Amino acid sequence: MKPEHKAVFQQDVEAVDKYLMSNGYISASDNEEQKVIDAEFYALTAGGKRIRPVLCIEFYKLFGGKGDVTEIAACLELMHTFSLIHDDMPEMDNDDMRRGKPSVHCAYGVDTALLAGDGLAILPFEIISDKALSGDISPETAVKLINCLSKAAGNHGMIMGQRLDLISEGKQVDLKFLKRMSGLKTGCILSASAQFGAILAGADNDGVKKAAEYAENLGLSFQIVDDILDVTGSENELGKPIGSDEKRFKDTYATIMGIDAAYDEAKRYTEAAILAISDLEGSELLIELAYDLLERKH
Ligand code: IPE
Ligand code: IPE
Ligand code: MG
Ligand code: MG
Ligand code: MG
Repeated sequence: MKPEHKAVFQQDVEAVDKYLMSNGYISASDNEEQKVIDAEFYALTAGGKRIRPVLCIEFYKLFGGKGDVTEIAACLELMHTFSLIHDDMPEMDNDDMRRGKPSVHCAYGVDTALLAGDGLAILPFEIISDKALSGDISPETAVKLINCLSKAAGNHGMIMGQRLDLISEGKQVDLKFLKRMSGLKTGCILSASAQFGAILAGADNDGVKKAAEYAENLGLSFQIVDDILDVTGSENELGKPIGSDEKRFKDTYATIMGIDAAYDEAKRYTEAAILAISDLEGSELLIELAYDLLERKH
């Protein structure tokens, strides 16, 4: 990314981090009664690239938004972090490290991890509806956001993708299956993130569609790179265990295609993502972000 875009990206991340560290919805207390909230805070403040809130903020700006949408953007990070907490649990991927720290179930126990995930999945709807009740966004915008996020995360979105992932364990799957599964488990929330920005900026249907098309393709590329890093990455850099897919006998893009062909496939999706927004003025940061995520090491 060009230095001036990198600086903007960093500002977005800092704004989101600041909000996550200090807001009335989630705060660390070290009090037994509040253990679930402590666990949520622990997961959220462990780090994370914050790609989803940044997509929201940058698509908002791309479509002419001039206000501060940090708090609503952070809702995407809440939903994403919920998916990671449950994804790591023994019943799913059984991974004991996330974002460079012990996974939530290792630090707080599986019962608390389950509830912390549940809490983070529900909180976005509380925050968005509060924003409408306080007059910060219109009721219509709130309904659009809630509709978008619940569809993306729910039964026919991320949850379905995670279901497909679970039933693929120990089975041979083909590329068509991997594309569907990755699009659902990873693409849907990324797509909602980009659409959030467009919706908040009042973009028309065509604009929202372009945002979705960018992020759906980015999501496929993102998951392929994640699969590659599960084989070639370093645990230190990734902050999560490598070899997780092999341990669970999962076919991935990396195992089915081989590393080089999987990278080429990821590159094709990155290029498709870029094509979706390349005619929009001011899309340079998002274009560079797509390239950077293709080359990422964590
Ligand atoms: C990891 O997502 C899970 C996938 C969808 C592949 P990220 O790579 O965005 O994880 P964080 O948020 O930076 O920890
Ligand atoms: C993405 O898949 C899972 C989610 C949607 C949460 P992975 O299981 O590959 O993600 P990592 O590798 O554990 O981050
Ligand atoms: Mg998983
Ligand atoms: Mg996992
Ligand atoms: Mg993975």
